[in-house]
Amino acid sequence: MDIAYTLKKASERRNEQFRPEGQLSFGQLRTDHMFLIDYENSNWKNPRVVPYSNIPIAPGAISIHYGQSLFEGAKAFMHDDGEIYTFRIDKNAKRLNVSADILCMPSLDEEIQMKGVHALIDVDRLWFPLQEGASLYIRPFMFATEDSLGVHPSGKYIFCVILSPSGAYYPAGFTKPIKLLITKKFHRAVSGGTGAAKASGNYAASLKAGEFAKKFGASQVLFLDSENKYIEEAGAMNHFHVEKNGTVVIPEFTDTILKSITSESIIELQKEIGLKVVQKRVPLDAFIESVKSGDIVEAGGFGTAAVISPVGEYVFEDGSSITVGDGKVGKFAKQIYEYYVGVQTGKIKGPNGWLKKVKRNNLG
Ligand SMILES: Cc1ncc(COP(=O)(O)O)c(C=O)c1O
Repeated sequence: MDIAYTLKKASERRNEQFRPEGQLSFGQLRTDHMFLIDYENSNWKNPRVVPYSNIPIAPGAISIHYGQSLFEGAKAFMHDDGEIYTFRIDKNAKRLNVSADILCMPSLDEEIQMKGVHALIDVDRLWFPLQEGASLYIRPFMFATEDSLGVHPSGKYIFCVILSPSGAYYPAGFTKPIKLLITKKFHRAVSGGTGAAKASGNYAASLKAGEFAKKFGASQVLFLDSENKYIEEAGAMNHFHVEKNGTVVIPEFTDTILKSITSESIIELQKEIGLKVVQKRVPLDAFIESVKSGDIVEAGGFGTAAVISPVGEYVFEDGSSITVGDGKVGKFAKQIYEYYVGVQTGKIKGPNGWLKKVKRNNLG
């Protein structure tokens, strides 16, 4: 499927490499263009790169009323050769289709998704921010556009990709552990629901929990299963902890946990990083006891935005708290972070196919 290009006039778009002044924040900026493809009559058609602009949508669109909407999040990095490389974008394309299936939305060929992402990055490559630790955040998303108030799967969709030049998550170095609130009040997902999908509605459902956590000085909630027995996710990240013997434990993927590409990658890289990573169900009570006894020495979250967010403390609604290890960023977290970022930025050779170079089509 050939992509059509309608580009902004040269005078209206970035014409030299982006060199941001001051630290770039995450997700605020956009580039000059976006990628779109439409679904109608059981077919995807009209793939195109067009200027970034509002997308007209009918007030009765099913995504607005019934939440048929999903997204992905990935990153591209500039390597020392000056070229831009996407990181494991094939995994995001696959997961988008898993989410689509859960939400009764159509799948979109993974090659087309990746082609769209690469075509867009190529056209907007001057937006890659030249700043230590910066990346180009890639946001593919799909939403229902059929104008219909009956509750049923939409017959029309748009798949879109936008880009956001973003700064380093840890501009002051990898130093900041977060706090998580342990509460039984909120649940992100229930078995049989949409927890394993990157469904927009899952994030709407987590906002109240996040606001509640802030009242206790925590940045997010440690999400538990609906029976409050097992640890599931650390806000919008997979949870992990490290046992005294150095084994990293990630809760087993169930239908209430998003299969994090960061977690999966760390599992695949465990030998190279020099760690053992296992997945199993993590009972909350045993976890708390082991943090108290010092049998758990580190904990945190894995996700694309930060790679790792170490947790220094878990707080409870009664004001009490437990500290993980010495409450600081631990050596295992540092070891994983440095290796992982090394692979992403091309400083350490990772497995074949993880990084895909954005070809220059000289359309810009
Ligand atoms: C609920 C949830 N869990 C886990 C993750 C981590 O997934 P990934 O490593 O693919 O970014 C995310 C997204 O970042 C998320 O939103």
